Amino acid sequence: MSELKAAISAVGAYVPEFVLTNQMLESMVETNDEWITSRTGIKQRHILKEEGKGTSFLAIKAAEDLLNKSGLDPKEIDMVIVATATPDLPVAATAAYVASEIGATNAFAYDLQAACSSFLYGMSTAAAYIESGRYTKVLLIGADKMSSIIDYTDRTTCIIFGDGAGAVLFEPNTEGLGLQDEYLRSDGHGREFLNIEAGGSILPTTAQTVQEGRHFVHQDGKTVFKFAVSNMADVAEKIMVRNNLTRDDVQWLVPHQANKRIIDATANRVNLDAEKVMINIHKYGNTTSATLPLLLNDYEKQLKKGDNLIFAAFGGGFTWGSIYLKWAYNS
Ligand code: UT7
Repeated sequence: MSELKAAISAVGAYVPEFVLTNQMLESMVETNDEWITSRTGIKQRHILKEEGKGTSFLAIKAAEDLLNKSGLDPKEIDMVIVATATPDLPVAATAAYVASEIGATNAFAYDLQAACSSFLYGMSTAAAYIESGRYTKVLLIGADKMSSIIDYTDRTTCIIFGDGAGAVLFEPNTEGLGLQDEYLRSDGHGREFLNIEAGGSILPTTAQTVQEGRHFVHQDGKTVFKFAVSNMADVAEKIMVRNNLTRDDVQWLVPHQANKRIIDATANRVNLDAEKVMINIHKYGNTTSATLPLLLNDYEKQLKKGDNLIFAAFGGGFTWGSIYLKWAYNS
């Protein structure tokens, strides 16, 4: 029997019904389908339109999908982590509400925020609780209602982001499957290049900050792109080298979906062919914390027990990293 590892044992997901296509965006801002497709790889994104529904709505749906598929009794869940950059409320954990609504009445719950790396960091956190032996069922949900913080008159951001949620269950594994290694990094000086300026403790919301649109996401796309390309590729390569993995040993690259060109650069650096690279950016755009679990859900049927997966993400903060995980089940 090998040491205790933390494995993903179930997956679920949800995206809202409304689809915002590139063609629709053409009538909202000065852009076109050809530009968006060639510069980002995005064709459409899903948007939660209904008033009064926030990120918890998406997270609950994804968790319920996981519960239905796996048959898990929610009362068995020890903790719920919601990775998100768009909590329901600035104060009061979205995860606590989600846990109560799905019937995880024996769990404690909190949110984890690291922009587009939220879910990746959440995997590390969830796995650490399992590996310590302290808990046996940790539900990690990545959920974001990005449309709530996007300015739909700003063509540099509104074409990129979409809404969605994905959930995974981490459980102990003694067959050597699950999270093998991680390489996580951050550089806080990057926050000037991708942020929401107002609404936090430095610059609380005022009528003026709203008037100036400072409650929306702003990014210096070119700079973020440059850092994302080099850092995501670096960490993916590093974790493969550190674990003596060649391109033939890796079945799947699971990259954050911010821009198809960033994904391609990462895949090229680690020398992986396109068929080993999970892609759903064309359908969902960048769903921030939901991206990685949405990929797992989309590709779940193709995953086999023992497959080596390399996760890589880069996001605001800056935050980034890579995780090496052995898949634990056939579906
Ligand atoms: O997940 C969080 C991390 N975020 C990211 O990783 C995002 C990283 N950045 C990017 O993906 C890219 O920088 C963008 C997709 C945001 C922009 O692509 P780009 O190739 O870097 O374009 P650019 O900003 O250099 O702009 C090129 C041109 C500019 O026109 P000029 O100055 O050359 O005349 C822009 O004004 O494209 C123009 N442009 C657009 N044109 C049509 C910018 N946005 C648009 C647009 N439609 N939506």
